Amino acid sequence: MSMSLNLWLEYILRFSHLVAGIAWIGSSFYFIWLDSSFVAPETPRKNVEGEVFMVHGGFYYQVEKRKIFPGEIPKTLHWFKWEATLTLLTGFCLLIFLYYLNGATLLVDSSIRAWTQTQAISLSLGIIAAAWVIYDLIWNANLVRSKTLSLVLSVIFFSALTVLNFSIFSGRGAYMQTGVIFGTLMLLNVWIRILPGQSKMLKEAQAGQIPDYSVSLKSKVRSVHNTYFIFPVLFIMLSNHFPTIYNHSHNLVMLICLAISGALIRHAMVTKLPRERWVLLPAAIGFAFLVFITAQTPELPPAPEMVGFQQVKAIIANRCQTCHSPNPTDDTFKVAPKGIVFENEAQVRALADKIHVQVVVGRTMPLGNKTLMTDEERAIINQWLIQ
Ligand code: HEC
Repeated sequence: MSMSLNLWLEYILRFSHLVAGIAWIGSSFYFIWLDSSFVAPETPRKNVEGEVFMVHGGFYYQVEKRKIFPGEIPKTLHWFKWEATLTLLTGFCLLIFLYYLNGATLLVDSSIRAWTQTQAISLSLGIIAAAWVIYDLIWNANLVRSKTLSLVLSVIFFSALTVLNFSIFSGRGAYMQTGVIFGTLMLLNVWIRILPGQSKMLKEAQAGQIPDYSVSLKSKVRSVHNTYFIFPVLFIMLSNHFPTIYNHSHNLVMLICLAISGALIRHAMVTKLPRERWVLLPAAIGFAFLVFITAQTPELPPAPEMVGFQQVKAIIANRCQTCHSPNPTDDTFKVAPKGIVFENEAQVRALADKIHVQVVVGRTMPLGNKTLMTDEERAIINQWLIQ
């Protein structure tokens, strides 16, 4: 595909994913806020549990939280499901475009496991599907009756899942795979566990029966889970722009720390009990810990005291030019990625800062360590950059 077409396709996919995500998370936050703001009406009205008054854009809005019984069904009922669906669909297109195509080079790191493209994609899809089955079983009230037990099992399960992703995929791939799993669970919660229950209650009311509102409580559990996934997913969406995070030697611990801190922030935001806001303290400690580990310079083997460009040139020829040259020999990249070529010292010097981030700090390049660069070589490049 031509470079320009590639660029715009990626741009449009990212843009639609972002817009759909804003709509989904925006409506999610709005309902979280609504749920925590209802007060009982001054003069009680039949079937109305709470009401809320708002002012926005020059008008007043009154929203009631209520149950619906036979004979009370509104002509138009607005459902909130397409924001979520579109977010996941555009997200999946992005996953395919960025991580599954191009030989799955962003998903695979040959120094972790040298999967073929088909193997990497099958593993990724298989793990996503299995994650839903297991999560759904853990929260099946007929199977696991205690919510505390479900919670403990979930923590163990999600930690093991993250470890598994990091033992299979590249740092960037593992971050994204974990995020895609969370996003998929959120969407399947909506379509498989929330909407069918809602439709059932509506049909009962339409058929003139008293709806079984115990179903609402079951849907609510999954709806609440979805709110806990929001921040971890957003962190992961941002993380793929930060090689220093996803390729850090402690990237796994950092992801778990980010996810837990995100879930705690969500809890503090939503809880009706002010004393539960203590959870912000561990979240803050989590972030301080992240700052601390990224401040450590990555360990590299000792390099010779003086390094000449000839040494660097030889390394670049072996490890980088298969992709970054006017005529790449790589099996996937037939044009130099991002137009970056390293043919002479000036071109290398011009990108010194970026090379430092990609090769020494983040270890993102060579991509998926396809050309098997060694730590000694990274140390030599680092030494030359320092000089
Ligand atoms: C297998 C192919 C491949 C090899 C080998 C490779 N790169 Fe890259 N490089 C890429 C791709 C693809 C991108 C674009 C990545 C993206 O879009 O995030 C890139 C981007 C870059 C960037 C720009 C990053 C930015 O900030 O946008 C730098 C700098 C870079 N590579 C340096 C190197 C160096 C130095 C080496 C050798 C040590 C190397 N690359 C080896 C494929 C490769």
